[in-house]
Order: sequence, then C-alpha cells, then structure tokens
Amino acid sequence: MPDRAYVIDNMISAKSIAARIEELCHEIHDEFEDTNKLVVVGLLRGSFVFIADLVRELDLPIEVDFLEASSYGDGMESSREVRILKDLRGAIEGRDVLLVEDIVDTGHTLHHVTNLLKSRGPARLKTIALLDKPTRREVDMKADWTGFEIPDEFVVGYGIDFAQRNRNLPYIGKVRFT
Ligand code: IMP
Ligand code: MG
Repeated sequence: MPDRAYVIDNMISAKSIAARIEELCHEIHDEFEDTNKLVVVGLLRGSFVFIADLVRELDLPIEVDFLEASSYGDGMESSREVRILKDLRGAIEGRDVLLVEDIVDTGHTLHHVTNLLKSRGPARLKTIALLDKPTRREVDMKADWTGFEIPDEFVVGYGIDFAQRNRNLPYIGKVRFT
C-alpha cells in the first residue's frame, strides 16, 4: 500500500481511449489481414483491460495468450532487471504475434520480452503499447503502435496500477500526492 495520500487527476478519458483503439485496429488489420491466425499476447497484468478492448475491435482470426514479466514491484521505479514470472502457454514458432503492453517507460521490459519472443522464431512479431513515456527511455525501443505519448507522470487506471490499486478505473489518470 502506498504510504502517502494521493488523488487521481483525469488524463485520458475512456472515450478517447476507445476512439484511439478503433484507429489502431484499422492499422493492425492492414498489417495482418492475410494472417491465418494472429496470436495476441498480453503482458500481465497491466495490459488486461487494453487487450480485452483491442481484441473486440479486431476483425481477424485470433488466439489470446499471456506472459507475465516482473517490473515495478510495488514502487514507482522500474527494477530494470526483467524476469519472466509466467510464460506463454502456446508455441509461437512460425506464427504471427502481436505483443500488447500497457506502458513503455524505460523500455527494459519491451526490449527483454521482444528479444525473448523473437528467439522463438515467430513469422511476424509486432508490438503495441497503450502509453509511451519517451522522455524516460533508457533502452532504444519503441512499440510498432502507440496509443498515446504522455509526459513523465505516474499513471493509473484502465488496467494500470499503483501498488496493485486503481486498475479498475475506466480511464487513465495521473497520481498526485497530497
Ligand atoms: P519499463 O520496463 O520501464 O518500460 O516499464 C514498463 C512497465 O512498468 C509497464 O509495463 C508498467 O507495468 C510499469 N509502469 C511504467 N510506468 C508506469 C506508470 O506510470 N504507472 C504504473 N505502472 C507503470
Ligand atoms: Mg505494473
């Protein structure tokens, strides 16, 4: 539990997120329209709301799988060392894969997980992140598609947590300590 009191200021509304997902899905559809099946991989836990909305806008044959990587623990700083806590259920060799991430911050998680998935020989691997904080980058990484670029603020909601809280907010808000 965070030991300081905080409030959550609105940042990106549920409506804006939905509109942006619709746009992104057109682009994803153009990229993968010839696929016989796309494996949509959600990076747990932060991407669970995003992936749920994303797949329902995607008019493609898909499978869903999940991967869990350690990142922040319960704090606000990236651990930088990325560990796989839960691996995919299915093999991705020769498959089309879309990796779904909540936020690209330092870039360590996306870098590590992308390399891991690439090493398994997918036919195509593309990445999508709902949010990107480019000014925080430590590893030169960018998702193929990004929902919104945001400044260096700690955000919650729409699946994203602060010490496991606030994942159920339907919009993205920023944490402000009071
Ligand atoms: P990176 O490895 O530093 O790019 O961190 C990526 C992960 O850190 C994301 O998947 C999030 O789980 C977490 N993270 C980064 N920024 C925030 C934030 O503002 N709020 C909550 N979690 C965040
Ligand atoms: Mg997290």
